[in-house]
Amino acid sequence: MKIGRAVSAAALGFGAGVWAVGSLATCAFAQGNAAAQIYPSRPITIVVPFAAGGPTDVLARVLGEHIRVALGQPVLIENVTGAGGSIGVGRVVAAVPDGYTISTGHFGTHVANGAIYPLKYDLLRDLDPVARLPSNPMLVVTRKNFPAANLNELVAWLKANPGKAAAGTAGAGSGAHIGGAFLANLVGAPVQFVPYRGTAPAMQDLVSGQIDLMIDQAANSLPQVRQGSIRALAVTAATRLAAAPEIPTAAEAGLPQLQMEIWNGMWVPHGTPRAIVDKLNGAVVKALADPAVREKLAAVGLDGPPADQRTPEALAAFQKAEVEKWWPIIKAAHISAE
Ligand code: MLT
Repeated sequence: MKIGRAVSAAALGFGAGVWAVGSLATCAFAQGNAAAQIYPSRPITIVVPFAAGGPTDVLARVLGEHIRVALGQPVLIENVTGAGGSIGVGRVVAAVPDGYTISTGHFGTHVANGAIYPLKYDLLRDLDPVARLPSNPMLVVTRKNFPAANLNELVAWLKANPGKAAAGTAGAGSGAHIGGAFLANLVGAPVQFVPYRGTAPAMQDLVSGQIDLMIDQAANSLPQVRQGSIRALAVTAATRLAAAPEIPTAAEAGLPQLQMEIWNGMWVPHGTPRAIVDKLNGAVVKALADPAVREKLAAVGLDGPPADQRTPEALAAFQKAEVEKWWPIIKAAHISAE
């Protein structure tokens, strides 16, 4: 393979330099292929950009277990938190593109942050998509004894007490922050954002009454709602959650514009051999097709994506479309890291 290609370059009068580059690329390709054949030959690390126990972490652990079984190597979860998840994503961008360091994240970390933080990396160029993962709507939740029994009463309270409500987030750009900013904009009354390293620690403070509310992923809030330790006022989806039919939609509860969902995804450093991306994608697609996995995820409001949306190309196209749609909106809303 190598030789043939070398001769034709010379015949075309390209200099020695071009020949060298050509053969270097061929070597790298061959090495990549060789690496892909034995991949994985050691533990794989999934970098979760938020705290342990939160929705992004739980999804990574569920899928990690299936990747372990499918590919026959341990899968380690590393929680690298801070700056709305942008530090954890940066950790993967800087990693060797060999398939052993994987990024999971979502709309916030892999779209919104690009319009909010002066990132030292390019979300579309410096990471290669592996697979789109399930998504979930948000719940408007409050501490148990907050003086609002429904969404209309919450809206009235926020209007009557501008800047008084403490809303938990996972940092600027996180799903909980974008959701909170969206609600505050719709209501026309500011709230105080209280940043945490993830919505799992934020939830602890909501349960203990240290903060007043969250616009939180259903996957994180539903277990606490079921225990009665927090109150759910609405779900930001067009239809009620099958897993929680008692929670009204935001439209039913009086705020039809409050529609939002957090989609998740998996990426590797740019330049990771395609054959390795395909192995990882295969393991994820197999896990998402498993009825037991789907049931476990559906129980906390996580659903999809459709089967034809699980390829690396589908995630690449979807992420690009989301960037083009949301960056102007986020910038116009002056949502910033401050
Ligand atoms: C988390 O895992 O903590 C969440 O994904 C944070 C968020 O709301 O974006």
